[in-house]
Order: sequence, then structure tokens, then C-alpha cells
Amino acid sequence: MSEEKKIMDEKTSKRNVGTSSVHGGELRQQEANAITTPIYQTSTFWFKNSQEVMDYQEGKTSREEYGRYGNPTWRAVERKLSELEGGEETVLFASGMCAATTTFFALLPANSHLIVTNDCYRRTRQFIDEFLERMGVSVSIINPSDLDQFEAAIRDETAIFFTESPTNPYLRVTDVAAFVEVAHARNVKVIIDSTFATPINHRPLQDGADLVLHSATKYLGGHNDLLAGTVSGSAEIIEPIRKALGVLGGIIDSHGAWLLLRGLKTLALRMAQHNNNGLQVARYLEAHPKVRSVWYPALASHPDHEIAMRTMNGFGGVVTFEIETDLEGAIRFIDATRVPYQAPSLGGVESLIELPVTMSYWDYDPEQRKSWGITDSLVRFACGIEAAEDLIADLDQALESV
Ligand SMILES: Cc1ncc(COP(=O)(O)O)c(C=O)c1O
Repeated sequence: MSEEKKIMDEKTSKRNVGTSSVHGGELRQQEANAITTPIYQTSTFWFKNSQEVMDYQEGKTSREEYGRYGNPTWRAVERKLSELEGGEETVLFASGMCAATTTFFALLPANSHLIVTNDCYRRTRQFIDEFLERMGVSVSIINPSDLDQFEAAIRDETAIFFTESPTNPYLRVTDVAAFVEVAHARNVKVIIDSTFATPINHRPLQDGADLVLHSATKYLGGHNDLLAGTVSGSAEIIEPIRKALGVLGGIIDSHGAWLLLRGLKTLALRMAQHNNNGLQVARYLEAHPKVRSVWYPALASHPDHEIAMRTMNGFGGVVTFEIETDLEGAIRFIDATRVPYQAPSLGGVESLIELPVTMSYWDYDPEQRKSWGITDSLVRFACGIEAAEDLIADLDQALESV
């Protein structure tokens, strides 16, 4: 462990998330006494002489070498997230998809077996279907909260259990500690895509998960202005993933890393407002006569309510609901909203709204959509950090058009 990391660990082990969001990973720049970490806009790093090259090659010094392997601006983000998640190491990627695909390529042996869950971001599902199966990896799909189904799905060649928690779009929640216990007894690694939770609402590594992954495009960046992905875990499991990134090359640029660093400083503050807005909006929708059903883990009607209440600190800004109408009515509703932007994504300060049927799931066959529960009047509302009162007033006037 480097001296720098030892000092960091001593300083940071007891502070809480609000402080870690602001100060985590920041080295307090000595060169110009700047408060913020600079954007290192460089593709490579020079060596003073051949001795310095040799010392680096022999592992006697730790420093940057070439832009695809690291950059001091990324390192600050990596340290901040490691502190927030309680992991030893973090790797940054160009997008959440890049984080997931690089991790699978790095960790899945050919002809192994993967267990995933039945509600997930559709591109992750597409990667599994189109690429992993070509590598001879077989896949079992289970319900995100069904421990018995998970246990029954494990085979001798099962290498990884991967799930989002909460999932997209139905916000299903996995009891990570319980799944980890079963998985580790059978030598299966557990990877949690915690994009919808963030370290403010749940920290999967504390429940024993091997890796936690984020589309940092969402809450971690938080301003709808960048794409990024992250994976955190022990130094041992991160090493092959970092090496794979150096080969596959899906790196974030230093300006993107800096935006993420800046966004992370307000994470705790923003999540408090997302959590409050999500809860208020979910309660309002559940009581509305034109709303057939609402999925939000804090509601007693949610299938994983008990697990969520026991394992999470908050439930985020995304509320998924079905209106008592057909596709035309749902389109009238969404076009009548004034505060949210109609756009894919979530987790930024601006609220976003979408009909999965016309947006993320448009190119799928209707029967297939139905099998995933994507109905014509399903709405995904990603609350931003506006005032809950204004979001509710807007939904209220828009529902009148149904
Ligand atoms: C849960 C989840 N994981 C991963 C991704 C992919 O992230 P990105 O868009 O940053 O590639 C998304 C995107 O919507 C997502 O919702």
C-alpha cells in the first residue's frame, strides 16, 4: 500500500458520506494551492531519464505512464468513489455499458455460466444475448428477490451473479447479503449494478458483494451532462478489470472525469432531494384514480418493500407507473407534462420522463415487450431535484388529459 493511500485511509475511515462526497479522493493540491483537482489534459507522461523508466517498470515508483492506463484527474474520482463505496479500488470507464462489458470480458471464463435477473437495462441484456453467448457463456435468468430460484440456478461452472438493485424500470430490490452468502458458498462472484441506489442509499460492498458497478451518467454525475461508468471492489478483483480496460480502451477523458468529480461533491445533498421527490411523487400517484399501479420500493404494495426497507437508506428519484389508459392516452399525458424533459436517462438535476414503449423499448417486438412487462401505458418518471410540489402539480394537470 502506498504511503499516500495509508494516510488517506487513516483520515477517511470514520467520516460520513456527506464529508466523503466533498473531500474524498482530493489530494489538496500543493503546486498552486488550488481547492479543486486540475483537469490533466495530457495524453502521455514524461520520464526524466532512463533510471526513472526502469524504477517505474520494476514497480519501485508509482506514477502515470500513458493516458489509456490512467490520469491524475481520474485517480481523484477513483479515490473518492472507493471511499464512498467502502472499496479498496475503483476503475473509471467511458460509460456504464463500458464498465459492465469490460468487467464481464475480464472476469467470465469461456464456457462458464452467468446468472442474471429478469428486469434490467436493455443494453445489458442485449450484450449478454449477443456477445456472451457467442463466447460460450450460458445464462440463467431469475427473479431479483427469489433466493430459492437463485440457489437452484447455480451450477458447478457458474462464475458470476449479476443484478441491478434496484432494477430498471421496476425497481426490484435484491437482498444482497443473503444472495452473497449463498453465492460465496458455491464460489460464485456477486456483482451489483447499483446505479439506481448510489452509495447514499445502499453500499453493496458492505453486504459482501464482490463488485459494485455504476452508470455514473446518472446520479453520480448528476447533471445530465456526461457519460461515465465505474466499478469498485477489492484490489485483487479490480486488477484484471483495470488491465482489460488498458487493452479494450474504453476510457473516460479527463474533462469528463473532472465533471464527475465535481458532480460527486454534491451527491449526498442531491440524493436527499431525489429520495424526497421520489417518495412524494410515488405517494401522490398511488392515490390517483387514473393510475393503475405504481412501483416504488417505499410503497407497501411494491413486491420487494420489506427487503428495501431493511437494506436501503432511501429509494431514489425514479418512479415507474402505469396509467389507466391506452398508448394514445399515455402519449397525451406525457406530451402534456411541462416540468420534466421527455428523454431517456435518470439521476440528473432535471426531471426526465419517458414511455418505455416509445423510447427504450421501441425496437422490440410487442410480444417480447409484453414478456418484460413493458405495457403501452407504462411511464418512467425520473424525478430531478426540483420542488416536489411543482412536480406533483405538473403530473396532476397532465393526468387531466388522459
Ligand atoms: C441500471 C443501468 N445500468 C447501466 C446503464 C448503462 O449506462 P450508460 O448509459 O452510462 O452506458 C444504464 C443506462 O440507462 C442503466 O439504467
